[in-house]
Amino acid sequence: MIPALVESLSTEQCAIYDAMQVCADQRNVNVYLVGGAVRDWLMGHPAGDLDFTVEADGIVFARALSDVHGGEVVAHERFRTATWTFNGLHTDITTARSESYPRPAALPVVAPAPIGVDLMRRDFTINAMAVRLRDGALLDPFDGQADLRRKVIRALHARSFIDDPTRILRAARYSARFGFEIEPETRVWIDAGLPWLKDLSGERVKYDIEHIFAIPKAPDALILLRAWSVFAALGIAVPEPATLLARFDAIRSHLSTWDDARIVPYGHRIAAGWGALIYNLGQMSASRWLELIPYTSEVNEAIVSLGVLSTLAASLFDGRSSHQSALLRPFSAMALLFMWLYDPAPAKRTAAFNEWHTWRGLRPLTTGDDLRARGVRPGPIYGKVLAMLRDAWLDGDVTTDDEESALLTRLLSQ
Ligand code: CTP
Repeated sequence: MIPALVESLSTEQCAIYDAMQVCADQRNVNVYLVGGAVRDWLMGHPAGDLDFTVEADGIVFARALSDVHGGEVVAHERFRTATWTFNGLHTDITTARSESYPRPAALPVVAPAPIGVDLMRRDFTINAMAVRLRDGALLDPFDGQADLRRKVIRALHARSFIDDPTRILRAARYSARFGFEIEPETRVWIDAGLPWLKDLSGERVKYDIEHIFAIPKAPDALILLRAWSVFAALGIAVPEPATLLARFDAIRSHLSTWDDARIVPYGHRIAAGWGALIYNLGQMSASRWLELIPYTSEVNEAIVSLGVLSTLAASLFDGRSSHQSALLRPFSAMALLFMWLYDPAPAKRTAAFNEWHTWRGLRPLTTGDDLRARGVRPGPIYGKVLAMLRDAWLDGDVTTDDEESALLTRLLSQ
């Protein structure tokens, strides 16, 4: 392995690299480290997931590896690629291939090809570099190294964004992530791809937008996309740049509070990105996103409820806690999370947090069994009495067990 490359790889990644190299030698196959890991190494960044390309069948190669080392192989027949999960790492192993696009924004038709052709099918010069494992040679046919030095994102050809408009989303992500400029000709080519964005499947749009949410500079990438009229091309309005910046700031600074109380899985952070794009933008935009993107049912439901939540008058949240809780009770935790993060009215934000964190979990000490023991005949009265006791706790009318018991006696005597 190239000594300098070792420094950008973790111990586990080095083990994967070595395993690939041994397998390549045994099978007499050319194997290349490609894409992001090469770029990251040249930039002096730690590598993310490793991608390898083999001048042979990627699935067969991945299975040969797992036969020797273990781990799991998931094969993607259409492109003859495989993901090998080993030692907790996901490694993509692709068959070196050419791509042709039957129509704009469609998935490509692929055929096995040498690495030189494979590098030509890629998105940007900085991602079209490869290291040959056999001898450590760096293949850089489009001078991606110069673009790394100049800090520019450059596509390989004029049709790049027409063939694959997801690359428009990727260009904004890399530009924001690395602080790189879009090379002027590439910027012109991006415009040519805009009309084809609406032909992408929702699954592909979702994948690339969620990758944007995952980077620290997410709002910068979204602001770029907005300036390029990407959302207009999708027929969707998005918030002003200042609002986007403030909302992603809210995610960064406040989501940890939400974390502290109950575990917020990574999925909630991604969902918070969708909330940042959609909150307060009106029914049209929300409906358009819902039509386009195959959300999980949890996110779907939260987005649907934003129409109501974002338009509730702030004055409704001045009164008794029990009334506020009753208003918010029908909404899911995720919908409340969006309201808490993004609503401009402080009273609404506080109420959303209280409902999620405290109010909805609150129960009186009295149970149905206690009511039965006191001779109350079972029926709707049970729910009513227990709700009144709960509301009394919420509003601070009851603060001790004895006070609850006294209130119960009073209610039953009525
Ligand atoms: N690629 C492409 N066009 C796309 C998606 C991917 O040409 N629409 C190519 C690029 O060469 C890219 C490689 O496939 O480098 C792997 O894609 P991906 O895993 O998404 O990116 P990484 O290279 O791993 O970079 P990162 O995850 O850091 O963005």
